[in-house]
Amino acid sequence: MNKKVLVCISGASGANLGLKLYNLIPPYYERFLTISKNAKIVLEKEENIFLEEDIAAPPASGSFKIDITFIVPCSMNTLAKIALGISDNLITRAAQVAIKEKRKLIIAPREMPFSEIHLEHMLKLSKFQNVIIAPPIIGYYNNPKTIEDIEMFLIGKWFDLAGIENELFKRWK
Ligand SMILES: Cc1cc2nc3c(=O)[nH]c(=O)nc-3n(C[C@H](O)[C@H](O)[C@H](O)COP(=O)(O)O)c2cc1C
Repeated sequence: MNKKVLVCISGASGANLGLKLYNLIPPYYERFLTISKNAKIVLEKEENIFLEEDIAAPPASGSFKIDITFIVPCSMNTLAKIALGISDNLITRAAQVAIKEKRKLIIAPREMPFSEIHLEHMLKLSKFQNVIIAPPIIGYYNNPKTIEDIEMFLIGKWFDLAGIENELFKRWK
């Protein structure tokens, strides 16, 4: 059976990165997409993308067995809720499911700078073995020339963390 991957997009800047990540997931994974109401606003403002409500209920259940959950980007609002165990929408619920079922949860918090509150939430979550905090931080060692290069680097790194094979960026030799 194909592994299942859920991509959650919350309302932080760079919501389009989450969409690109979703589109690049190899076809041998079964993929699902969840977009928060506020992420839709960011997508409209930053990308002129208008999306309908597309919230599917199955990822809210542990028995649906999502293998990998990405939250890319993750707003500080969503990060805080996850750290506090709140599950008031499909994204925060999917995160709680991943945590309780001990399945891989990759969170890409996006804010600049981070406050002590944000950092405390990240520290708390990163102590769980199945949770990885991986913000969208640029690497310069592969000489990015375009935003596309930077995005492929970030998505490649997130895929690496999830164990999803990819050739999206030049690796350090
Ligand atoms: C254009 C735009 C960009 C934003 N960028 C960020 C951001 O980078 N990080 C963040 O934590 N919040 C950002 N926000 C604020 C969040 O959208 C807001 O806190 C919202 O309540 C998050 O809701 P959600 O976590 O349910 O998606 C931004 C808002 C807008 C309109």
